[in-house]
Amino acid sequence: MGFLYSQFLVRPSYPTRSFEGETVLVTGANVGLGLEATRHIVRLGAARVILGVRNVEAGEAAKKEIEASTGRSGVCEVWKVDLASYDSVLAFSDRIAQIPRLDAAILNAALATDNFELAEGYERSITVNVINTLLLGLLILPLLKATRQRFPSTRPRLAFVVSEVHAWADTTEIADEGDRILKAISDPTKAKMSGRYYISKLLEVLLVQELASRVRGSEVIITMLNPGLCHSSLGREAGLGFMLMKIILARSTEMGSRTLVAGVSTGLEGHGAYMTDGQVENMALSPFVRSEEGSQTRAKIWNELSTILEGVRPGIMENAQ
Ligand SMILES: NC(=O)c1ccc[n+]([C@@H]2O[C@H](COP(=O)([O-])OP(=O)(O)OC[C@H]3O[C@@H](n4cnc5c(N)ncnc54)[C@H](OP(=O)(O)O)[C@@H]3O)[C@@H](O)[C@H]2O)c1
Repeated sequence: MGFLYSQFLVRPSYPTRSFEGETVLVTGANVGLGLEATRHIVRLGAARVILGVRNVEAGEAAKKEIEASTGRSGVCEVWKVDLASYDSVLAFSDRIAQIPRLDAAILNAALATDNFELAEGYERSITVNVINTLLLGLLILPLLKATRQRFPSTRPRLAFVVSEVHAWADTTEIADEGDRILKAISDPTKAKMSGRYYISKLLEVLLVQELASRVRGSEVIITMLNPGLCHSSLGREAGLGFMLMKIILARSTEMGSRTLVAGVSTGLEGHGAYMTDGQVENMALSPFVRSEEGSQTRAKIWNELSTILEGVRPGIMENAQ
């Protein structure tokens, strides 16, 4: 009911908050919701916007299009990052660490696929949507915190683009997997790829909740947002059912992108919160996420993620405080 009501009757507010003087990062900014959110942020006066993309040519085309439509040039920069690769995420974040300020980041890049493939030893959508998205978030946290120290008038924000489909996940797939959930669902003989995108978004929701519980909102506001079902390139690798649902129900890409901008426009009320239609709506989180079982799963995957990421960049989990 909430889903259909939102899709047909709710129009997230047109973004008006000024980003003047701010440096903002958007991953997956070459297309879809990331592109439209970037366009808004440039229009709203950001000084520097980094488009984190895996295809630099597509990123440059997006940059040109944004410059033409906003009349602002010298703002967008296209930087390469492939979230299927640890090395690429590390190189990207090392480059980010060199810039003097980062006021906001929207970690938006993700994929929905029915095809099983491994990346860094985990099923690819788990690597991209979950492990490396959290890796990147953790790697940029020190600069976000430092920005608050160096420029006390700014309130750094870190927004993760999740989805209401976290509530559609078949949680039996992760119920009996002990402390190695990410590894178990990356087993090609067991992986249920038809629901994989939903599971990836559920795991992302749980991990962002845990991250936000460890970081003070007074230092960095960490939020997660659901854009609703929107037209975009998402699902280009997914099944026909997903495409049909989009044709019937989806909102425009621009309309959905407003919720991404809302995610980096929120104040402290957004810290650790779930935003939908551009508003904090914690009760829209799934019953599983709000349950005791959900809390236990959250603790287990946080431990598993910590072990993985400590192997990628020793000491990284100290950033989560
Ligand atoms: N559209 C919806 O209905 C909907 C609903 C709820 C949530 N969301 C979420 O919204 C976010 C944006 O999705 P969208 O709908 O705008 O989809 P999209 O048009 O497919 O855009 C996804 C972006 O992620 C990038 N990406 C994918 N794999 C990557 C990788 N390995 N490394 C770096 N970038 C990668 C894509 O780059 P390429 O162009 O190079 O592939 C693209 O820029 C996602 O987090 C998605 O889960 C979407």
